[in-house]
Amino acid sequence: MGLFLLDSMEQALGGQASPASAVRMLPTYVGSIPHGTEQGDFVVLELGATGASLRVLWVTLMGTGGHRMEPRSQEFVIPPEVMLGPGQQLFDFAAHCLSEFLDALPVGKQGLQLGFSFSFPCHQTGLDRSTLISWTKGFRCSGVEGHDVVHLLRDAIKRHGAYNIDVVAVVNDTVGTMMGCEPGVGPCEVGLVVDTGTNACYMEEARHVAVLDEDRGRVCVSVEWGSFGDDGVLGPMLTIFDHALDRESLNPGAQRFEKMIGGLYLGELVRLVLVHLAQRGVLFGGCTSPALLSRGSILLEHVAEMEDPWAGAARVHALLQDLGLNVGASDVELVQYVCAAVFTRAARLCAAALAAVLSRLQHSREQQILQIAVATGGRVFEQHPSFLSILQETVMLLTPECDVSFIPSVDGGGRGVAMVTAVAARLAAHRHLLEETLAPFQLNHEQLAAVQAQMREAMVKGLRGEASSLRMLPTYVRATPDGSGKDVCFVLRMWPRALDSREGPGLDHPLTCPTLQLFDHIVDCIVDFQQKQGLSGQSLPLGFTFSFPCRQLGLDQGILLNWTKGFSASDCEGQDIVCLLREAIGRRQAVELNVVAIVNDTVGTMMSCGYEDPRCEVGLIVGTGTNACYMEELRNVAAVAGDSGQMCINMEWGAFGDDGSLGLLRTCFDASVDQASINPGKQSFEKMISGMYLGEIVRHILLHLTSLGVLFRGQQTQRLQTRDIFKTKFLSEIESDSLALRQVRAILEDLGLSLTSDDALMVLEVCQAVSQRAAQLCGAGVAAVVEKIRENRGLEELTVSIGVDGTLYKLHPHFSSLVAATVRELAPRCVVTFLQSEDGSGKGAALVTAVACRLAQMARV
Ligand code: GLC
Ligand code: GLC
Repeated sequence: MGLFLLDSMEQALGGQASPASAVRMLPTYVGSIPHGTEQGDFVVLELGATGASLRVLWVTLMGTGGHRMEPRSQEFVIPPEVMLGPGQQLFDFAAHCLSEFLDALPVGKQGLQLGFSFSFPCHQTGLDRSTLISWTKGFRCSGVEGHDVVHLLRDAIKRHGAYNIDVVAVVNDTVGTMMGCEPGVGPCEVGLVVDTGTNACYMEEARHVAVLDEDRGRVCVSVEWGSFGDDGVLGPMLTIFDHALDRESLNPGAQRFEKMIGGLYLGELVRLVLVHLAQRGVLFGGCTSPALLSRGSILLEHVAEMEDPWAGAARVHALLQDLGLNVGASDVELVQYVCAAVFTRAARLCAAALAAVLSRLQHSREQQILQIAVATGGRVFEQHPSFLSILQETVMLLTPECDVSFIPSVDGGGRGVAMVTAVAARLAAHRHLLEETLAPFQLNHEQLAAVQAQMREAMVKGLRGEASSLRMLPTYVRATPDGSGKDVCFVLRMWPRALDSREGPGLDHPLTCPTLQLFDHIVDCIVDFQQKQGLSGQSLPLGFTFSFPCRQLGLDQGILLNWTKGFSASDCEGQDIVCLLREAIGRRQAVELNVVAIVNDTVGTMMSCGYEDPRCEVGLIVGTGTNACYMEELRNVAAVAGDSGQMCINMEWGAFGDDGSLGLLRTCFDASVDQASINPGKQSFEKMISGMYLGEIVRHILLHLTSLGVLFRGQQTQRLQTRDIFKTKFLSEIESDSLALRQVRAILEDLGLSLTSDDALMVLEVCQAVSQRAAQLCGAGVAAVVEKIRENRGLEELTVSIGVDGTLYKLHPHFSSLVAATVRELAPRCVVTFLQSEDGSGKGAALVTAVACRLAQMARV
């Protein structure tokens, strides 16, 4: 039988069990046995362990070193009509008992934390979420199966209204029994209950539990062995009495194993055997009595009393007479024999089941001799001392390789429930701190609409040349492409990666070296490229994608206003980039290059997408930095003469908010990132959105949560103190839906962070909050731009396309759809299509260069 059970357990763990599977192996979300450090006062409500009664306890945990305090408790009898009535009535009854119990204690009415011991098979999805699968053991309340029992209890407590009680954890009685076990010789990792029903739980390796996506550590699994045999495997072992008992029960066909062991059924089994023997003439002179023939007339306590070696005989006599039976001389002994047989079978079956659990443990721990403590609880143990001795003997016989000690539970598992509740309360407090920390990142519609409005205002001011954080730089690109540019030209793009030594001749500090050196280096790169492409010696037009704020006075003139994104080549700001490049070309002998245009990457992107789609009138970059450009009416651009036609405006929106207008939205984490950056106080909007900074924001939040003790067990690590360890790539990877949490953990562990699965989940939530805010802010900016275009043209509805480029936008799994959703929400009168460009800024710059060449030729002609 043990082998069948073991088989059934393994199938259920592997998740391959059929719906009619024998045992359920339900994970409980209890991940570790108690440390002993748990402390505080807890209310425990027990439902379902002991027959028709409900128990309320007040448990005080003293932490390490404190002495144990006896819990206060009170038992309430549940009326039969409540056990079989509507679920709401049962939970109302529980709420009523709770307040009756608490009324008698000197406790306040607020802030009480409750652990709910609910001893029925449940699917748990968290420490405080548990759906009843099916009633067992004489309960059958309507409207509870398939529902979260914590929810039902919370509602009832609220309805009752007397106390403010937080239901923090829900626990099976076996788990409470195991968790409450005093740490003795070895760890107690099995809980065994034989009360009205029977069941066990034990600490399983998490990686063996298929439904949990977890490969490390252990988790407590409730075997729910009461339903073992429901698929028929117990067939030959079932007697006619078992069949009769099952037929007459509330749940025929279910809990077949439990019905051979549980205290609710033992008296009934004895009664059925006695009826049978009386009807066969073996007992009571062949007579029965109405009492003997009625269900439930012999109870567990009667059987225990009758079996008592000293007082037993007298008790049997008295009990049988109470049942209206004629007790003959040999009857007493025979009846005692029947009781012993029923009990012994129960103890042995229970032992066989326990042996299966122990073998499973020994096997998975790969130990020669498994030393283990089993916490036992339940009335059958308490009232029937021989049950434990038979159990022990049989277990020894079946699993000689296990060294088992049995430890009776103190106060019926209430302490253990309090322990779990304490852990759950700590986790809930952590969750609260996490939510509080992330709340400022969750922007509502009003906040986003305000960003849009501010952006709009800053745009107008910038265009007029008034003080504004948006520079709104004219680009001298006056039209999107018409598809005619087919000339050959060179495009040079400058961004951090382009100066990487792997892609050309190396430079030690490309981001910070002196200007001369930087531009000589750029020319080296071009010559290198020219040679590799076999284009040496030709004079070719060159377009320069230069993705920094420049004041342009023509297509081939661009004065660098300031560096962004980590660049800081000294003495370059205020100079014309095209001149600097031409001079560097001049310094280098035998190179002929004709610099004809300087183009911001946003403009390049818009132009390249415009080549395919004439409606593309906006360019957007969300990569290392972020920025946008769009086609503005020339009459609105104060800096350029002329009233008709349009010009592409480089907004340089990364600087939006540098005048303090984003003040309220900026968190302390944004401030820290800004402070540590190369350009404090600059590029406020960019620092909340772009790839160069999001990882840093995440890192600062993680540092904060660690200091609160919420993450990484409060242990600060050197790794986490390291700037820029979180690349934007990681954010994209971590949030990818196809990755399970364990892979998220692997990614973080690669960074040298060792974390639990709770940690991994929280890190994921932090990443989500930060990237969501970034996408929404970006969306608010886009909404301001498209609305401006719509109003410029006096249109009811604008249909427009946006060319987009940048690694964050392209690689992040949710960024682009969040931007689009925000734009839909904030600019409902614009129908916006987002076009992703492939190296758009390069192709676009080529287009601009081609146009510039044509213009130059035309001028010569
Ligand atoms: C029943 C319940 C189970 C409980 C056991 C002991 O089998 O289904 O959850 O642990 O009784 O009370
Ligand atoms: C930075 C630059 C801007 C560029 C953007 C995207 O914000 O200042 O010019 O367009 O990054 O690369």
